[in-house]
Amino acid sequence: MRALLIIQLQSFKDMTKVIDTGVFIPVGNHGWIHSINSPAVEDGSFQRVLEVTKGAEGLGFDFVLSPSIWRGRKGPSEHWMRSLESLTTTAALLQATDRISVFGTVHMTIYPPAVVAKIMTTLDQIGPGRVGLNLVTGSSYLDLSHVGLWRDGLDHNERYDLADEWIQVVKRLWTEDIVSHKGRFYELTEATMGPKPSHLPPLANAGASERGFKFAVQNCDIAFLSGSDDPKYKADAIRAKQTARSMGKADLKVYGLVTLIAGETDKDAKDRKDHFDEGVDIECLDDIALGYNLNPNIKDVSPTSLRLAAGREKRSAVAPGAFVGSYASLAKRIAQVVIDYELDGIILIVPDYVNDLEAVAKKTLVRMSEYGVSCRLGGA
Ligand SMILES: Cc1cc2nc3c(=O)[nH]c(=O)nc-3n(C[C@H](O)[C@H](O)[C@H](O)COP(=O)(O)O)c2cc1C
Repeated sequence: MRALLIIQLQSFKDMTKVIDTGVFIPVGNHGWIHSINSPAVEDGSFQRVLEVTKGAEGLGFDFVLSPSIWRGRKGPSEHWMRSLESLTTTAALLQATDRISVFGTVHMTIYPPAVVAKIMTTLDQIGPGRVGLNLVTGSSYLDLSHVGLWRDGLDHNERYDLADEWIQVVKRLWTEDIVSHKGRFYELTEATMGPKPSHLPPLANAGASERGFKFAVQNCDIAFLSGSDDPKYKADAIRAKQTARSMGKADLKVYGLVTLIAGETDKDAKDRKDHFDEGVDIECLDDIALGYNLNPNIKDVSPTSLRLAAGREKRSAVAPGAFVGSYASLAKRIAQVVIDYELDGIILIVPDYVNDLEAVAKKTLVRMSEYGVSCRLGGA
């Protein structure tokens, strides 16, 4: 009888889907809550981000990802008016940790590929085998233009054409002794770069458009998508895996970006969201939307970005599709999305990256195993 039970438990465990877990770290003040009521502890300082990352490592998260932010928003909350540069933050976090992977982010339209190739080989020496790279092309005109970093003359698809060439050059510099290249965007003559990275850094991209996703499939190891149990996000996720398979990249990992507003009870969680919404920074939301709308080629902006901008104009301080609920109820909902959407991982946004992260790690993510999904967080 006991042997049968053990076999049954073992086969249940075998059926469990194991996913990667990561944290979208708040390198800009207020993180991703657009409200004067968002927790003041998220001040965008390096000390706070260090505390968050060490906490995430202690809890057993697989990775943190630091985004690339160039502009603060108008409005009373002063959202992202104080932010850190992504790659230097990545360097310091790698030095300060032992196990967790740290992804930095670059706008490929800003940096020449050789510069990032060399930065990444240096980061690989600081945290061998633990550095990853999130590649973005930038779709908010205002975010980049105000510091003179908007790349004029390239439409949305051409920015991804540049990205294709950019990453090919980087990969060659990481793997070949001498690189000569003459393309539409870059020219290198007998370029040498050493040492080579100990491991090829995992590459990620969050292209919401067809073209962006194609870039991810062809060039990256991970594609980020919006993760929510709102049905309108499901089609994107299903399409992602199907496209990856049809392009011969069945091993592409798809991670869902998940915003969690959690509490002991559903009511506690809803009250927290209501509190954030009471202080919603409308001027900030309008400013974010304006950033996309001012794109000289508005048809460039992917439907998801417009959906985000439009959703925020409905005056909620949190991203549309956020999971709001008790720790226990969220475990079931997230596990369901992971299974239904065929996700390989999740990356989290929470209001308070120390207290909330610990609570959702211990009371939500670990409990997903009851619903067929497990992760490497303590106790799972
Ligand atoms: C997890 C995640 C991380 C992202 N990080 C950044 C970032 O650091 N900087 C940025 O400008 N855009 C970032 N984005 C936006 C995407 O790169 C992308 O521009 C957007 O999803 C629109 O897709 P498209 O380029 O295919 O139109 C991120 C999106 C996600 C889901």
